[in-house]
Amino acid sequence: MYKVVNLVKNFDNVKVLKKINLEIKENEKVVIIGPSGSGKSTLLRCLNLLETPTKGYIEYKGVKLTPKSYKDIQGKIGMVFQNFCLFDNLSVIDNLTLAPVLNKIMTKKEARKQALEYLKQIKLADKLDAYPSDLSGGQKQRIAIIRTLMMNPEVILFDEPTSALDPEMIDEVLNLIMEVAKRNITMIVVTHELNFAANFASRIIFMDQGAILEDGDKDEVLKHPKTERLQQFLSKIN
Ligand SMILES: Nc1ncnc2c1ncn2[C@@H]1O[C@H](COP(=O)(O)OP(=O)(O)OP(=O)(O)O)[C@@H](O)[C@H]1O
Ligand SMILES: [Mg+2]
Repeated sequence: MYKVVNLVKNFDNVKVLKKINLEIKENEKVVIIGPSGSGKSTLLRCLNLLETPTKGYIEYKGVKLTPKSYKDIQGKIGMVFQNFCLFDNLSVIDNLTLAPVLNKIMTKKEARKQALEYLKQIKLADKLDAYPSDLSGGQKQRIAIIRTLMMNPEVILFDEPTSALDPEMIDEVLNLIMEVAKRNITMIVVTHELNFAANFASRIIFMDQGAILEDGDKDEVLKHPKTERLQQFLSKIN
């Protein structure tokens, strides 16, 4: 699905990603962990072309990601942010139906029907006409997640989807992500929730200082870390 080749990203003179090489297969469920500033968000943003590589390139299904090629696949790659990124001036239903209707994936009627179905599944059907400011953080994030589903994505990138939430709301969001994982969608999740990672992921990547230090089966990485850096990181989190 993804092939990342010698990806380098610099901001001014700061080397944020140092020659990343990575392949991600279709339907893989990947968790990325690592200390603050290690480049996790930057890598995720490169996969969505929110950042342009300084050197190297990324292929998506065999096609090199460029601003031009990205236009065709844009809708296929969903993203969920730490701070939700809902449109505050739009109601829940409009947040959900805007993109699929604008991108002609569904008619307005179809989009409304699909949105209602998703809202029922997450038990927020009564929030149809509410505005984001009326919702809790956990509710906002669950709306943001079903908003990505409205586009029928092939990939969803999650950047610390629960870091901005009060502790009691974290599980409702992680449970929804586990539900989404039953679908045939490639999912890449940056998170510090190691219990969730152990349940959700098939594979875990550990980043440190702009490089991938470990990458493998979740049990290997979590239970038998090879590098001292990962051992330290895991003991700090636990
Ligand atoms: N737009 C930018 N301009 C300049 N520097 C940036 C920019 N975005 C990120 N950086 C720098 O790149 C480095 C990596 O940042 P990044 O946000 O990718 O790390 P992260 O692993 O996601 O960290 P966190 O866990 O805190 O979210 C940091 O040193 C950060 O200051
Ligand atoms: Mg980050």
